[in-house]
Amino acid sequence: MGGAKSSRTVRAAVLGATGYVGRELLALLARHPSARVTHLMSSGRDGKPPFPIEQAHPSLRGRFSALCGPLDLEGLVPSEVDLAFLATPHETAHDLGPVLLDRGLRVVDLSAAFRLRDGGAYPRWYGFEHRAAAALAEAVYGLPELYADAIRKARLVANPGCYATSIILALAPLLGAGWVNVRAGIVADSKSGASGAGRAPSDNLHFSEVNENLRAYALFNHRHVPEMLQALGLEEDSFTFTPHLLPITRGILSTIYVQLSEARTLDQVVALFRDFYAFAPLVRVYGAGSLPEIQAVAQTPYADLGFGLDQTRRRLILVSALDNLGKGAAAQAVQNMNLMFGFPQETALL
Ligand SMILES: NC(=O)c1ccc[n+]([C@@H]2O[C@H](COP(=O)([O-])OP(=O)(O)OC[C@H]3O[C@@H](n4cnc5c(N)ncnc54)[C@H](OP(=O)(O)O)[C@@H]3O)[C@@H](O)[C@H]2O)c1
Repeated sequence: MGGAKSSRTVRAAVLGATGYVGRELLALLARHPSARVTHLMSSGRDGKPPFPIEQAHPSLRGRFSALCGPLDLEGLVPSEVDLAFLATPHETAHDLGPVLLDRGLRVVDLSAAFRLRDGGAYPRWYGFEHRAAAALAEAVYGLPELYADAIRKARLVANPGCYATSIILALAPLLGAGWVNVRAGIVADSKSGASGAGRAPSDNLHFSEVNENLRAYALFNHRHVPEMLQALGLEEDSFTFTPHLLPITRGILSTIYVQLSEARTLDQVVALFRDFYAFAPLVRVYGAGSLPEIQAVAQTPYADLGFGLDQTRRRLILVSALDNLGKGAAAQAVQNMNLMFGFPQETALL
């Protein structure tokens, strides 16, 4: 069973292989020394017969011999597959997850279908009723820097959202140490590249709408809010999150404003984070004089964290950057797979 050190090859299915996250997963799995992709599936909506995945993703040319077929659960059985990655819309993953678990597969879901412990929160935040209570109850939130032990044993891992990853990694050490005056409020202001919205075209993601533009959206109601509150133990009235759409393809930069409960030096803050992430190979903590930026993390599996402090007024600004398709999605999913199957967590990532 997972968690033990393993030398065998993990047979993986990627559902949602034609999407942006699917592409990133496949690129990482292609270079994983102990993983083999056995099934690639898309919605099958277009009625096409199975096709080489390079038709959807030219960058994957020559990397996979298996064809990408329509969604078909028949071959997804333990004699053929160990793990299914769900890189599909939330409601599709909600329906697939329990079926695959019942068949004895392990699952890493990149959608939000199993992220919220409270199933009753889904109608408000995601617009559908959650009807998979047993799967939801056993799901483990897949943020390895916080929950590695549970992930190792999990059958179902709910990979966190991209914005959520950038903000939880920045706030968890501070909140855990009790260094934040939470009553003063925490404000997180994030900017994301357009691939965060997936591949399906829409009016407001049209090139001319995004290019040379910057816009805020989903004020007070972005879907990642509840998973951030859940992971950080915060209440809605002390946390404000505003996402923005940047005219770039990949990357997220979050700027987070907090008031410290006691006076601290920047060196103390940096030391707290370096200690917290001492065994986290994908988190890079910056010292004084430099700050994370999107160019440093795009196309990488890293989450970068940096700080600015107004010591007199105890105001701390955290800057957190990652690639939404990397540590915000596929790299984190492979990191979770590595933990679940006993490989070093950075395998195929660094
Ligand atoms: N983009 C990001 O930065 C990011 C980050 C973290 C998490 N996520 C989550 O990861 C998941 C995938 O995101 P994405 O950006 O890759 O989306 P995407 O580019 O729109 O791709 C969606 C994939 O799901 C497939 N699909 C759609 N409807 C389906 C159905 N009814 N049954 C089976 N497959 C279906 C699509 O197949 P067709 O090509 O046939 O339509 C495609 O392969 C989403 O849940 C998203 O919220 C995304």
